[in-house]
Amino acid sequence: MPRKMHLGWFFGFQVQSWNQVWSGDGDTDWMTPEIYVEAAQAMERARFDCMVIEDALFVPDVFRGSADWTLEHALYAPKHDPMPYVPVIAAATRHLGVIPTVTTTFYPPYLAARLLSTLDHVTRGRVGANLVMSHNDRTAQNFGYDAQREHGQRYEVGHEWAELVGRLWETWEPDAIVKDAEAGVYADPAKVHRLDYEGTWYRSRGPLNVAPSPQGRPVICQAGASPAGRDFAARFADLVICNAQGIDSMREYREDISRRLVGHGRDPGDCKVLYLVSPVLGETDAEASGRWQRMLDDVEGNIERNLAILTYYSGVDFGQFDLDAPMPVVRTNASKTTIEHNRVKSEGATLREFCSRPERGCVDLVGSPDAVAAQMEEINGAVGGDGFLIALPINRRTVYEVTDGLAPALARRGLLREAYAYPTLRENLLEF
Ligand SMILES: Cc1cc2nc3c(=O)[nH]c(=O)nc-3n(C[C@H](O)[C@H](O)[C@H](O)COP(=O)(O)O)c2cc1C
Repeated sequence: MPRKMHLGWFFGFQVQSWNQVWSGDGDTDWMTPEIYVEAAQAMERARFDCMVIEDALFVPDVFRGSADWTLEHALYAPKHDPMPYVPVIAAATRHLGVIPTVTTTFYPPYLAARLLSTLDHVTRGRVGANLVMSHNDRTAQNFGYDAQREHGQRYEVGHEWAELVGRLWETWEPDAIVKDAEAGVYADPAKVHRLDYEGTWYRSRGPLNVAPSPQGRPVICQAGASPAGRDFAARFADLVICNAQGIDSMREYREDISRRLVGHGRDPGDCKVLYLVSPVLGETDAEASGRWQRMLDDVEGNIERNLAILTYYSGVDFGQFDLDAPMPVVRTNASKTTIEHNRVKSEGATLREFCSRPERGCVDLVGSPDAVAAQMEEINGAVGGDGFLIALPINRRTVYEVTDGLAPALARRGLLREAYAYPTLRENLLEF
């Protein structure tokens, strides 16, 4: 029996595709829910587990000393709050999980616990949260602080935040709502508890004022790859999304998460690891290679975009460095592991060489649906993974190429579920 895969799609509520041949009305479509609803329905047809919705709370303005590049290219701004889209997508689907990003640093725990629990009711047990600590000083400044906390402390506070939110979800026992019409008792007061949480960073009295939700505890997803990030995942997460570079790092990541899960008294199967990939598909291998070659040929565009991305993740202006010198080593309090991954990957290369290639996730996948499905099967087996997170902009071409080309090719190999076995996101994630 082949090892079955879980599939997710990663994107943000921002401009997906505009001024390209297949963009359609992408310059305005991205603001309305319909394009995501259509995409979600296609993902459900392809039996995806979930969509994971990226988020951030600032307009980047470090690259070349201003926000000009960001705004002109619409790479990270404008961007919309994911939360209002969640119920709209859920109402148009029956099985797909929806996992918006939530920052532990800036969401008060009580509000987050309440919001996610409510969304769990609204989605009938299909919501999750991609917990991030926010890495950029501009975000901190938007909330009245001068800078982000130091990387290690962000995780320390994040641990406490996640613990408190989890405890708030437990303040109502699952059977607290008795609805005893004869006795005139709706909720049993003996099953609703004060919390009186007293931590180093947070205090909360409790109980939560939301009814116990279908999953009890919405699915927790997490992406931080530093030792502190992996430990956070091992303690709290049901799902890890991972952008490790190359097969060896991907395998090391899964093995390390498994070890840490056991260290926290959990089973390695309790937390799934999905690898970020951006497949380049074509009707034939030759057609896909042609598309890939055109992407490689756009050297100037790739360099600008990659410099902007490195700037985004580090908070250091990569536009200031000599392109023909070795990749600079920068100190950052922002996304440390992303920058460290890139440093390792770029050893021996100049900044220009490193940035000339388009960014495609953990491994390059290029070919016809059947060829890419075969690569995915081999890679998933080799790294001991649980599946893949497709990172491509949402437009009708990219979505249907994956949901109606690649996914059926994976299904023909017996790699996808034949039907959703359970009503909730967590149960479907834990099915295999
Ligand atoms: C696949 C992936 C998705 C991420 N999504 C987000 C996001 O939506 N918002 C955000 O602020 N950070 C996001 N991050 C950044 C991480 O949450 C984390 O802040 C970053 O990796 C730095 O932590 P680390 O040093 O532990 O890796 C993402 C990272 C990865 C690898």
